[in-house]
Amino acid sequence: MNVVVTGGAGYIGSVCVEELLQAGHTVTVLDSLSEGHRSAVDPRARFVQVCLSDREGLRSAIADARPEVIIHFAALALVSESMAQPGKYFANNVAYGLNLIEAAREMGVRKLIFSSTCATYGVPERVPMNEDLPQQPINPYGESKLMFERILKWYHQIHGLEFVAFRYFNAAGASERCGEHHRVETHLIPNVLKVVLGQASECSIFGTDYPTPDGTCIRDYIHVTDLAQAHILAMKPGIAGFFNLGNGDGYSVRQVIQACEKITGHSIATVNQSRRPGDPPRLVAAADRAVRELGWKPRYPRLDDIVASAWQWHRRHPQGYPD
Ligand code: UFG
Repeated sequence: MNVVVTGGAGYIGSVCVEELLQAGHTVTVLDSLSEGHRSAVDPRARFVQVCLSDREGLRSAIADARPEVIIHFAALALVSESMAQPGKYFANNVAYGLNLIEAAREMGVRKLIFSSTCATYGVPERVPMNEDLPQQPINPYGESKLMFERILKWYHQIHGLEFVAFRYFNAAGASERCGEHHRVETHLIPNVLKVVLGQASECSIFGTDYPTPDGTCIRDYIHVTDLAQAHILAMKPGIAGFFNLGNGDGYSVRQVIQACEKITGHSIATVNQSRRPGDPPRLVAAADRAVRELGWKPRYPRLDDIVASAWQWHRRHPQGYPD
């Protein structure tokens, strides 16, 4: 198929591009490179540098590519930043997203696959979380993604645009070629590995008084190539709706740090800090719907394997991508 991938120079997008090419699809990447890296884009993909705020540029890129499916990764995705700059999140994740969906509709694109998040649920009533739990985001990031989910529902109802919205839990790990490099790194695993690489003296633990067994936040870490695989499965006509993507296992911040110590063979200095605004205590997926309806089966469900692949990539690319 002809596929357009927005945000294909970013962390999850670049891995998905690799998997799409591997599966024999033709890929055009649209990315502003504000967060993404040009060298993360597989050379077999076509690349167009365009920001989704540029309606004309976007329309002409989509008209040239003539995709059947658009996979939409391009977004801002930091909970803490969204608590300081909500407007930036609503502009990028909702308004610019709307430019994309309008262009998709005009060009007769069959399907849009959207990167949503478990942050749309807020503090869940129970874990593991299935798709039917109430969505009550506690940060503007989650709210912006929920708004776009709702836009997709209306475009489907009124214009017949098919969609899949994946609610990712915590993406982690790396492929052989592509890994996690944010210009300002806020994510747990890369920050822990920076200590091992000697690029930071210690790793902060944000909040040690949560209602969890060791007092730190619990998350469900899912390998980035497993996330990418779900997108390939979702391209099939008839697959539609909302799906959680996670392994169903929760690990605390301290457990993640211990796994990093085990895999790297280094001890990691930590410092306890106060809670980070907008962080729910515990997020763990029930992904049965994706398993059942997509035939999705994570290949790397073990935290040790996820951390090992991240460590391998960071060790080989201590400075991340060159651009
Ligand atoms: N954390 C630390 N120290 C750090 C970094 C993070 O203690 O240096 C803690 C956070 O407070 C949180 C946990 O580790 O409790 C995970 O934090 P991340 O920043 O790695 O990930 P988040 O859970 O905040 O957010 C990520 C993505 C979102 C996505 C969300 C789903 O950034 O886009 O996972 O849970 F929605």
